[in-house]
Amino acid sequence: MKPPKRLLPLIEEGLIDTVVRQLMSGKEAMVYVVRCGGMVRCAKVYKESTRRSFRQAVDYTENRKVKNTRQARAMAKGTRFGRQAQESAWQSAEVDALYRLAAAGVSVPTPHNFFDGVLLMDLVTDEAGDAAPRLNDVQLTPEQARVLHEALLREVVRMLRAGVVHGDLSEFNILLGADGPVIIDLPQAVDAAGNNHAARMLLRDVANLNAFFGRYAPELLLTEFGHEIWDLYQRGRLHPEVALTGRFEHDRGAVDLAGVMREIADARAEEAARLMRLQAVA
Ligand SMILES: Nc1ncnc2c1ncn2[C@@H]1O[C@H](COP(=O)(O)OP(=O)(O)O)[C@@H](O)[C@H]1O
Ligand SMILES: [Mg+2]
Repeated sequence: MKPPKRLLPLIEEGLIDTVVRQLMSGKEAMVYVVRCGGMVRCAKVYKESTRRSFRQAVDYTENRKVKNTRQARAMAKGTRFGRQAQESAWQSAEVDALYRLAAAGVSVPTPHNFFDGVLLMDLVTDEAGDAAPRLNDVQLTPEQARVLHEALLREVVRMLRAGVVHGDLSEFNILLGADGPVIIDLPQAVDAAGNNHAARMLLRDVANLNAFFGRYAPELLLTEFGHEIWDLYQRGRLHPEVALTGRFEHDRGAVDLAGVMREIADARAEEAARLMRLQAVA
């Protein structure tokens, strides 16, 4: 096909020889099958930030470290330079996470390059060598669902041990490759230790897996692997081969009573202030 404009710089650099076809136009990116040397690879071209949900960007970039303060100020003000900085932080988050996870042995496409807003990585393929289907595109037997669910929980554990929470893990971002499931689409990945949303995101990722595979193997709907994994992680007990049960004892005694009392006192004070303001006006 005629190469799209965004891929021309990579062709000039010699990183891509030819563009074979467009694979997908997802919500955040356009994905192409390309040839590089003798290899078939995948090029992910990020769309501009303006077409993406701003809310999401704010939520996920919280606590993400920005190196220089000019950049941080510009990002906060939303200037053009700021938007660009925000944009490249977003893209490099995916690249960083991919390199980190590939090194940790997580099943992700091997990254090869990141140039001019384009990520070059392995194309995940099925047995026939074609682009692999998403989990959402296949039908499973209950047994296949159980096996894949377990394999993917292992990947979640491996990711967390590498300090990463995916943040958008679902049947749409898992491909069924010839050698098993492969996890993709990581621009919203966060640092497990440094982000206030990490626990919530991990629980949601695992809940998505339970819900999807639970369609085929309903007993998975009752499991609490998310809480179990996060609890082990926090206690420094998340070993690679840890035996997961899917059960989790919610500690009812652990309610932060002082915290609850503080909330109530704050609400009372706020209400009293409101009444005083009303009286002052009357
Ligand atoms: N490395 C890859 N190998 C094969 N297909 C891929 C690869 N990366 C992405 N795709 C395809 O492109 C689609 C969109 O990519 P994704 O990274 O999920 O971006 P988006 O943010 O647009 O969802 C995926 O659903 C998948 O079908
Ligand atoms: Mg996706």
